[in-house]
Amino acid sequence: MAVREILTFPSPELKKTATDVTNIDGEVAALAEDMVETMYAAPGVGLAAPQVGVAERMIVLDVNTEDPGKDLLKLINPVIAERRGNVLWEEGCLSVIDYTAEVKRSAEVLVRAWTPDQKEIEIEADGLLAVALQHEIDHLDGKLFIDRLSALKRDLYKRKLKKILRDGGPADNNQDRKPGI
Ligand code: NI
Repeated sequence: MAVREILTFPSPELKKTATDVTNIDGEVAALAEDMVETMYAAPGVGLAAPQVGVAERMIVLDVNTEDPGKDLLKLINPVIAERRGNVLWEEGCLSVIDYTAEVKRSAEVLVRAWTPDQKEIEIEADGLLAVALQHEIDHLDGKLFIDRLSALKRDLYKRKLKKILRDGGPADNNQDRKPGI
């Protein structure tokens, strides 16, 4: 297992549409383990393979920060089969430095996916898990949460990021930050 580097906006890798995993093998299971370790180290509650430079449809999530590992999900080829209602949720992202914004999402989702041990599963989710599932599946389609904001807000973020990078990068004060997704 290894912690991998998380790519950040505007890396072109984050804009690629990831391809379906066609064979669930040891390599896929090893990638899932690396992604889990990378997510916990960040710290984050979700991570998608494109964020570590792998354009394949795999995501990992653990929204239970009280008891890490208990509700850990490793999902291959996840698909949103049903949606219900709407919710505005304040989101951040491990690939978007120093920024959060409210994003409109479905309030409840039903997701179908495969696991690294080749089981087909269904997940009914609301709250943070529903939001995180939609956020991570967006990553598989080359989409970041800032792509769901108005052009004006996105432009303001790009300017803020330029300033952050000009001033020598983000401040290293992770303690008070919410875990990213
Ligand atoms: Ni993200």
